[in-house]
Amino acid sequence: MQTIVRLADYRPSDYLIDRVDLDVRLHPTETRVTATLALRPNPAGAPGAPLILDGDELTLLAIALDGQPTGPGAIEVTPRALTLHQPPQRPFVLEIETQVNPSANTKLMGLYRSNGVYCTQCEADGFRRITYFLDRPDVMAVYTTRIEGNREAAPVLLGNGNLVERGEAGPERHYAVWHDPHPKPAYLFALVGGRLGRVGSRFTTMEGRDVEIAVYVEPGKEGRADFALDAVARSMAWDERTFGRAYDLDVFNVVAVSDFNMGAMENKGLNIFNDKYVLASPDTATDADYANIEAIIAHEYFHNWSGNRVTCRDWFQLCLKEGLTVFRDQEFSSDERSRPVHRIAEVRTLRARQFPEDAGPLAHPVRPQAYREINNFYTATVYEKGAEIVRMLRTLLGPETFRGGMDRYFATCDGKAATVEDFLAAFAAESGRDLTAFSRWYEQAGTPTVAVSGTYDPAAQTYTLAFRQSLPVVATEAAAGAAPRPLVIPVALGLVAPEGGSVEAVSERVRDGVFVLETAEESLVFANVAAAPVPSLFRGFSAPVKVEHALTRDERLTLLAHDGDAFNRWQAAQSLAMEVLVDRAKAGAPLKPETGPAGAGLTRALATFLDDEALADPAFASLVLTLPGEQEVAQTIGAEVDPDAIWRARQSLRMQLGRDLGPRLLALRDALAEPPGAPFSPDAASAGRRALRNAALDLVTAADPEAGTALALAQLDAATTMTDRLAALATLSLVPGEAREEALARFGEAYRHEPLVLDKWFALQAMIPEAGTLARVRGLMNHPAFSLGNPNRVRSLVASFSLNNPTQFHRPDGAGYDLTAEVVLALDGKNPQVAARLLTAFNTWRMVESERRLRAEAALRRVADAPGLSPDVSDIAGRSLA
Ligand code: PHE
Ligand code: ZN
Repeated sequence: MQTIVRLADYRPSDYLIDRVDLDVRLHPTETRVTATLALRPNPAGAPGAPLILDGDELTLLAIALDGQPTGPGAIEVTPRALTLHQPPQRPFVLEIETQVNPSANTKLMGLYRSNGVYCTQCEADGFRRITYFLDRPDVMAVYTTRIEGNREAAPVLLGNGNLVERGEAGPERHYAVWHDPHPKPAYLFALVGGRLGRVGSRFTTMEGRDVEIAVYVEPGKEGRADFALDAVARSMAWDERTFGRAYDLDVFNVVAVSDFNMGAMENKGLNIFNDKYVLASPDTATDADYANIEAIIAHEYFHNWSGNRVTCRDWFQLCLKEGLTVFRDQEFSSDERSRPVHRIAEVRTLRARQFPEDAGPLAHPVRPQAYREINNFYTATVYEKGAEIVRMLRTLLGPETFRGGMDRYFATCDGKAATVEDFLAAFAAESGRDLTAFSRWYEQAGTPTVAVSGTYDPAAQTYTLAFRQSLPVVATEAAAGAAPRPLVIPVALGLVAPEGGSVEAVSERVRDGVFVLETAEESLVFANVAAAPVPSLFRGFSAPVKVEHALTRDERLTLLAHDGDAFNRWQAAQSLAMEVLVDRAKAGAPLKPETGPAGAGLTRALATFLDDEALADPAFASLVLTLPGEQEVAQTIGAEVDPDAIWRARQSLRMQLGRDLGPRLLALRDALAEPPGAPFSPDAASAGRRALRNAALDLVTAADPEAGTALALAQLDAATTMTDRLAALATLSLVPGEAREEALARFGEAYRHEPLVLDKWFALQAMIPEAGTLARVRGLMNHPAFSLGNPNRVRSLVASFSLNNPTQFHRPDGAGYDLTAEVVLALDGKNPQVAARLLTAFNTWRMVESERRLRAEAALRRVADAPGLSPDVSDIAGRSLA
């Protein structure tokens, strides 16, 4: 039985640890760790309480209290805890020697080996797998770490903070001592030992500190680390410019490892990365990879302030560091690239990942009130919706006050383990506003819906917008049946004249283009409006809500053509397409191009748009051409979903766009062709050109598979970038036949020694929307490069199938569910975190039509009933079925 941890039960630790001296002697199977802990009773804790240190899969070798062996009965050791029954009620020192086996650590939490490299992962609770400890984020200590290892196997020895000493330790071994002067929670501890290549440079901070920055990768791959290294320097400069935050150590190291459960980790001064988010060369990485690397390097670096200097009091406050840091990395990417294009990408992620989560059985508030397994709360809700809350705060307060609030937050909470309340208090103090009602965003789960209707009164020359907000009732513990309370919703808006141009109407409720909806229902009246306008609402997606707004097709076409807000132009195209998709899917329409007036209106508008604007902003144009995804359509339909009908609807519309826009698309593709011999650049403009060219190829092929295949084959041969090569292969992968099979085989052969490229190849095949895909995936699980032990391989092959191939995961015969359940169970004994993540594919099971629903439920039950489940998987299975 797992116990439930509740926010309401939080109390401070009874003891604190001020200093930690670690001596780690690396060994493949018998690593020894001596921890010397300087402890003292916490004045805020319970006097005389026993000291209970967390542990997990540790072998205790020795323990001493103030240099003396502990007496009989003084300590008690269980698999998960070391208890000292009567600790001294004054400062004291515990010296604990433990042994761990990094080679047997397949959970990839604590100390493990990845391709022979020793590395650690401690967030959220991995430090207890290294030594017994008060493994909670509000216990902060100053760490000194001595790392000793074999000189041949581990020439590079890295720790947190600054290197203070290194030397020989016998004929075969050496050591390094690292000291981190900044007190930190144990989850930010890290060490690395191994044979690694290095690229490095220097950065001088605005405070004049000369920082050595370096990226460590597998030897031989140094050439692929330059982009990441440059992204570090750009992140440092941006955080100084934008938030006034400077780096605070003499060294900043990034290490890439190939076995990693998540994207990357912000350990103090020693960020450890999934190598997928570090390694890049034009030949092996796509434009999307470059963008992700830049964003994640920035994200981890930004944590140095939002996460490390100010950390979380407890894990319920996870959004305090994650939501804020996602917001910061989004801003960075927007500044470094294109703001509207990036905003669209953010919203697409939110809608594809967070909205379904918020609408399904795993829904939880951005700040949860209870958990069984904290590792299951690194979710789209905490990260992405958490970022949206910070963004709304900026919209509500305005950029200057927001920046002032951030400064205040960092100043008042520096060196502390803080809460969401501390964060909001800084903004309340800065702005003089009461943010109590706003704070409900953190407490109430579910995506709000805002229904809006507009009425024009020609006699009075007024235009009235009536808003009504509603929140789904989500059964979370804290809600306990209570009706949700109205949220504070910033609505950025404007009025557009039917013929284009903005209507300068006034309403005292609109300030700087923002109306704040604070109650369940409110109306907004604009005076002096000469003609009926078209409202452009939630500009820039100013709140994470669903909008119900009965605009006519013509009004949407007006917004697509004339809105001054690029996001809403894109949104207008999406909404027009969504209408067609939902209608066709609900009607169970056959697979042929749409011919009705709705589709025709959309293609005509897109034709004009492409003629007038595609060459000016190809990245934006490629997004306008991309239809809402199958999952988004499923969410819009909401119940009794037939994934095959959605796929047919989407494919039909793609065929139609390809047919009606074909000549234009081909012309654009030629006009945007890279001149031969042009140097590669991963910048946003070049990436945008490639994106539009490839969107064109994709649509043309949907309409004319034969012609498209020829173009794709030619592109595959001529491509000088992985972006173009993979796009061609993706296009081919949707056309059954020999050309596809040959192209896939050749690609697989060409990159057989490049795991990260093979991941793309696995993913692409796992996403083919055909009945044969299941057998293909099973076959690929036997591919020599595939391994259940490596999270990237599991994600690229199996999770791509289960999470990104709706028609095949939801096969009517249930075989997609069975495969997923089978892999979850096979994986659970090795790596519960990755297994639990895969199981979230069942999140939408209640939404599908009844036959599939029964089969999905049966597969879920099989998982739930399996003996010996990890807490991670049993938590997801239990909540999914509840
Ligand atoms: N804290 C990491 C981040 O930057 C994510 C992470 C969580 C990594 C847990 C590993 C383990 O978002
Ligand atoms: Zn993070």
